[in-house]
Amino acid sequence: MESPFKSDILKGKVALITGGASGIGFEISTQLGKHGASVALMGRRKQVLQSAVSVLQSLSIPAVGFEGDVRKQEDAARVIDSTFKRFGRIDILVNAAAGNFLAAAEDLSPNGFRTVLDIDSVGTFTMCHEALKYLKKGGPGRDSSSGGAIINISATLHYTASWYQIHVSAAKAAVDATTRNLALEWGTDYDIRVNGIAPGPISDTPGMTKLAPEELGSKAREEMPLFKIGEKWDIAMAAVYLVSDAGKFINGNTMIVDGGLWLSRPRH
Ligand code: HXC
Repeated sequence: MESPFKSDILKGKVALITGGASGIGFEISTQLGKHGASVALMGRRKQVLQSAVSVLQSLSIPAVGFEGDVRKQEDAARVIDSTFKRFGRIDILVNAAAGNFLAAAEDLSPNGFRTVLDIDSVGTFTMCHEALKYLKKGGPGRDSSSGGAIINISATLHYTASWYQIHVSAAKAAVDATTRNLALEWGTDYDIRVNGIAPGPISDTPGMTKLAPEELGSKAREEMPLFKIGEKWDIAMAAVYLVSDAGKFINGNTMIVDGGLWLSRPRH
């Protein structure tokens, strides 16, 4: 679908997207690029990174891929420094890397629980922490009055409770708290806006493939008045809006992009 935004609204900006080579992260990379940003993708899989970068370059988007795991602080620091060296500034950090699987709480080992928190929650904080020096007002490549923007990809499953998702629910709750606290501290001190996006079910993503098998079968869908499957494009448009000047007064907000699904209950 054609973007409703002008194609130059992110001109001159540089974005680093974790998990940026696949799924929702890749669509965000693509749309930030199509609206004028140069993009750096961080991911664990070399082949996936290489093919994502080729696709972006074929769209004339300046793009580079860096291998790294958000669980490793040294990878975070290296990729952030490399992004700065490649493009001369960093304006936007999108934390889209996430780990997930279905597991009943009684079958989930504490290490399985910890692994998802390490990727989603600690990984998000680590990336923000390491990127701060480049994102803050007056940082390298920036003027003294304006800071950058961070988007943390969340979910809605922790607003209530979700079967077999205790680890992800806990992890995304921590992500939302991190979004709010950084918005407060870094918005005040450094003019950095920190927001989140909470997608609902999105078609053609690893999340849907892994999590939606029987759980969201046709019967369950019929009982959900607002059930719709979104597109990766919907999430990417929210990201473009939030990081652009259109979102300049939005800070500390996690925008729900789920067609209203999380509000729904069975009719009877
Ligand atoms: C139970 C599991 C498990 C599973 C891993 N573990 N997979 N437990 N069921 N299916 C446990 C392991 O037993 C182990 O604990 C611990 O987790 C670490 O496992 P590893 O295999 O060593 O970890 P690692 O190779 O680092 O992989 C972690 C991973 C991750 C979480 C599986 O690689 C991953 O999910 N990758 C896919 C990324 C992805 O799909 N992203 C999209 C997310 S969608 P023990 O105790 O045995 O040592 C999303 C949407 C959320 O986030 C919202 C939806 C509504």
